[in-house]
Amino acid sequence: INIEVLDEQARLEAAQRIKIGIYFATWWALNVVFNIYNKKVLNAFPYPWLTSTLSLACGSLMMLVSWATRIADAPKTDLDFWKTLFPVAVAHTIGHVAATVSMSKVAVSFTHIIKSGEPAFSVLVSSFLLGETFPVPVYLSLLPIIGGCALAAVTELNFNMIGFMGAMISNLAFVFRNIFSKKAMKGKSVSGMNYYACLSMMSLLILTPFAFAVEGPQMWAAGWKTALAQIGPNFVWWVAAQSIFYHLYNQVSYMSLDQISPLTFSVGNTMKRISVIVSSIIIFHTPVQPVNALGAAIAILGTFLYSQLLWLLMGWKIYRAMGMAEAS
Ligand code: 3PG
Repeated sequence: INIEVLDEQARLEAAQRIKIGIYFATWWALNVVFNIYNKKVLNAFPYPWLTSTLSLACGSLMMLVSWATRIADAPKTDLDFWKTLFPVAVAHTIGHVAATVSMSKVAVSFTHIIKSGEPAFSVLVSSFLLGETFPVPVYLSLLPIIGGCALAAVTELNFNMIGFMGAMISNLAFVFRNIFSKKAMKGKSVSGMNYYACLSMMSLLILTPFAFAVEGPQMWAAGWKTALAQIGPNFVWWVAAQSIFYHLYNQVSYMSLDQISPLTFSVGNTMKRISVIVSSIIIFHTPVQPVNALGAAIAILGTFLYSQLLWLLMGWKIYRAMGMAEAS
């Protein structure tokens, strides 16, 4: 009987692994498509505050329609849920608009190279603001991440300060988003898909007045006319594609967050950036100097090293806790 139980367990584990693999592959593919259409739109229509708003609006509409038509079950939420969602939504809004502003100013690949430094921000925020401490090797693993990003930044041929700062602000905001959402999702019965839907809706409400204040209808109307004249009716499809794919990739990423630990999630996110960096360099013919590519490679390798160390650390903590439980 034991062998049968073990067999069943192995089969369940294999099925789970396949499921997560499918989530990851879908997430990365959707993200690559989003990044390409987003940049195509921004090249012709440099209004990142509006494109960010449209992405959130499109996702919110898709989910409201899915709930109304019962394609998806609407979540049962209370005031408490929306209250704990608020800080997550503020951080999500800032991180999203900052990344889009960055991509409107620099190459997609550059934004994502800087964004691969997110784990370094996570450790720094946890240490300085939350008072957490990590073993020395974890801090040391930040050196290649920071050094690699810095090397990529100083050797970037089309460097732009707003583009660089946008990606840095996005990193910081997303670290807070992850910290807040871990707290908010704990013990809640809302699924990853619906959690992200509610997050989009709240972010949309937060972002809309700022988009009007920073850019506004006059700029949008003039820019839209120019883009349509330049690109033709296809431009409308590009805007639709960037908005739909933005929602889909985030939805799938939140669905996979339901199944895996935040640590596995962040490794998946870094691997996602490799596919975005490589595909956008090919599609947009982005000029890359060898030393620039070296910086990106060091930063990404540093992220892997960092995640491996955190895994070891987690394993060690569990091992020690088990030892202590046995001793008592
Ligand atoms: C955005 O627009 O929100 C960014 O492209 C997000 O980047 P990320 O989901 O790859 O961190």
